[in-house]
Amino acid sequence: MSSSLKLVLNDFADWSSAAGIPQIAYAFNRIVRALWFIIWIGLFAVTIYQFYLIVSRFLSYPMKIVTNLQYGAQDFPVVTFCNNNPLIYSKVKNITAYKKINDLMEQYQSMVKNNYGSITGGDPYGLNTPKTRYEKTEWANEALVLLMNQLTEAQKNNAMYKFGEVIKVCSFNGIECTEANFTSYYDATFGRCFQFNSKDSNSNYRTLRAGSGFGLQVLMLINQFDPNGDNLFLPTTSTAGAKIGINLKGEDPAMESYGISVPVGQETLIGLEFVCL
Ligand SMILES: *[C@@H]1O[C@H](CO)[C@@H](O)[C@H](O)[C@H]1NC(C)=O
Ligand SMILES: *[C@@H]1O[C@H](CO)[C@@H](O)[C@H](O)[C@H]1NC(C)=O
Repeated sequence: MSSSLKLVLNDFADWSSAAGIPQIAYAFNRIVRALWFIIWIGLFAVTIYQFYLIVSRFLSYPMKIVTNLQYGAQDFPVVTFCNNNPLIYSKVKNITAYKKINDLMEQYQSMVKNNYGSITGGDPYGLNTPKTRYEKTEWANEALVLLMNQLTEAQKNNAMYKFGEVIKVCSFNGIECTEANFTSYYDATFGRCFQFNSKDSNSNYRTLRAGSGFGLQVLMLINQFDPNGDNLFLPTTSTAGAKIGINLKGEDPAMESYGISVPVGQETLIGLEFVCL
C-alpha cells in the first residue's frame, strides 16, 4: 500500500463517526484488527439487509384504506301534487261568474268533436288561429289561464278542487297523513296544488330507509276527460292526469316545466338517489 493512500485511510479513520472503523485502524495487533474487521463486516451486512428490507417495502407500495360508511336519516324533499284539470266543471257550468270559461270549454269541446277543425259562427277565443291539434290545445290552455286570472280569489277558490277531492289516501313511512300535513297554493295552469313537507308547513320530514315501502304514498282521484260527456273539465294537457313535483325546500316547483306527468289508472313510483359529493 502506498504511503499516501495509507495516510488518507488513517485520516478517514480519525474523522469517521462510523463505529468500529477507528478500532480497526488503531488495533493493538493484527488479531484484534482482524476481529474488529469481522465484526464490522458482519454489522455492515446487517445494515445492507435492513436497507434492502426498507426499499423492497417501499417498492411494494403498501396502502391502508379505511372504509367508513355513514348511514343516517336523509331530508325528504318537498313533493307537490297538481291535478292537470284546474277547475270543477259542474261549478263552471252552473255559476254565471265562470261564463267565459264555460264558453271557452264549449268551443273547445265542439272543436274536438269536429276533429280539431275550424269553429264556425264566431271564434271569440281565436281557436281557429293555430293550425295543428297540439297548438290548438296549447292555445286553449293559454286562454284558460288568462280567463282564470280574471276571476276573484273567492271565485277561484270556489271552483278549484279541494284536498279531499284530489288526495284520497296518503301515508308517509306507514303513518297516515291528512290535509293538516299539506299546504296548498294557486298555480296559474293547474289550479290548486298540494305540497307535502313544504317550507311553509313547519314540518321537516326525514327518511331512514329506501324502497317503495317507505317514503310518501298517495292515492289521487283524477276525473278523465270525455269529449262527449258534459260533467268533466278540459284537461290542460291533451290527457287527464296529474303532475308531481319534487324539489328542495324553498325551491320553485315550476310545475308546468318540471312537473313529472303521472297517468290515470296507473301506479307510478318515483325514486330518488342520494349522491354524496
Ligand atoms: C248544475 O245545474 C243543474 C241543472 O241546471 C243541476 O242539476 C246540478 O245539480 C247543478 N250542479 C251543481 C254543482 O250545482
Ligand atoms: C300529520 O299531522 C298530524 C298532526 O300534526 C300528525 O299527528 C301526523 O303524525 C302527521 N302525519 C305524518 C305522516 O307525519
